[in-house]
Amino acid sequence: MHYLPTRIIYGENAVRKGFVYLNRFGKKALLVTGKTSARQSGALDDILNVLNQLKIEAVSFDSVTENPTLETVMEGTDLFLANNCDFLIGIGGGSPIDSAKAISLTAANQLGKNEIYDLAKFKQNYPVVAVPTTAGTGTEATQFSVLTDAATQKKAGFGHDLAFPALSLVDPKYTLSLPANITLHTAIDSLSHLLEGIYSNQRNPLLYPLIFKGVQLIYSNLYKALHNPLLLMARDALMCASLYGGITISHTSTTLQHSIGYPLTSVYGVPHGLANGIVMQPIMELYYPAVKADLDDLFSYLRISRADFFLWLDGLQMSAGVSIPPEFIDAKIPEILASRNMANNPFEVTADAIRSILEQLS
Ligand SMILES: [Fe+2]
Repeated sequence: MHYLPTRIIYGENAVRKGFVYLNRFGKKALLVTGKTSARQSGALDDILNVLNQLKIEAVSFDSVTENPTLETVMEGTDLFLANNCDFLIGIGGGSPIDSAKAISLTAANQLGKNEIYDLAKFKQNYPVVAVPTTAGTGTEATQFSVLTDAATQKKAGFGHDLAFPALSLVDPKYTLSLPANITLHTAIDSLSHLLEGIYSNQRNPLLYPLIFKGVQLIYSNLYKALHNPLLLMARDALMCASLYGGITISHTSTTLQHSIGYPLTSVYGVPHGLANGIVMQPIMELYYPAVKADLDDLFSYLRISRADFFLWLDGLQMSAGVSIPPEFIDAKIPEILASRNMANNPFEVTADAIRSILEQLS
């Protein structure tokens, strides 16, 4: 089974190449961004130029922050409806694009804040255009939107076929201005998505060429991008791997590897990719017996051993400065066990297994 209803334009000048398709969505767009990265990356200017040529009016909604809240989604929904917009363009990392997806659905189905996760009420959408400026979430190729409920401090997502972007314009040059910490954390997020394509009980051999190639691209290029941020070739590799990761989880969904990090992000503000990175080795060790043949195939493709991979991970020094208080562990295990990603583990993961992974971080 393979399903991906998003038109993806990848590579140099992707926004300009999207010209003909952008014209199909209407005459007024809500631009969903944060305060800086859309502008800094050059993506916003490129989009505004194209919209100008097409005589498409742009309404700016630039209040999206990291880990966007349900309130932000409702604010964007009100602005979309008040301006009679026809479609949305999410520009930035995962947060603006995920917000654009949620706004599309709440606006089209006239949903209130408490209905954002009510998938049965999703009957129609407004088209979403995704322009990523980080290489990590892969949200440009998924049906997922990850939001945070500020009232409960819970980070949770929804997935629905109507949330796939209609068009994704993916140009690696927008990542050239990313600082090293964001480059690292987002690349590790992609790496998690690719590995979860192997861990997931929905794993799908059609995806293995993308998964293997994606992991190789990150393994061979992450250090290059960290040491030489303007090296377009390395940025291109990470962007491509991120897209492969998105395509992968759109089919397999994510697993404990993601669930375990959500409370670290919503309670302690650990960036999403870093939260994945600090548990990457113990999660792989936990899953290894269940997916041994496939992981062995991956490492023989990479021509390295698992031990070499763990050394490479160690070299990224992700655990430095992260310390989880023991009382947090017991308090959050029920939330982790209840998250929807847990349905995709290769076997039933127990509370004890989660505790022993988190204890390594305390
Ligand atoms: Fe992720």
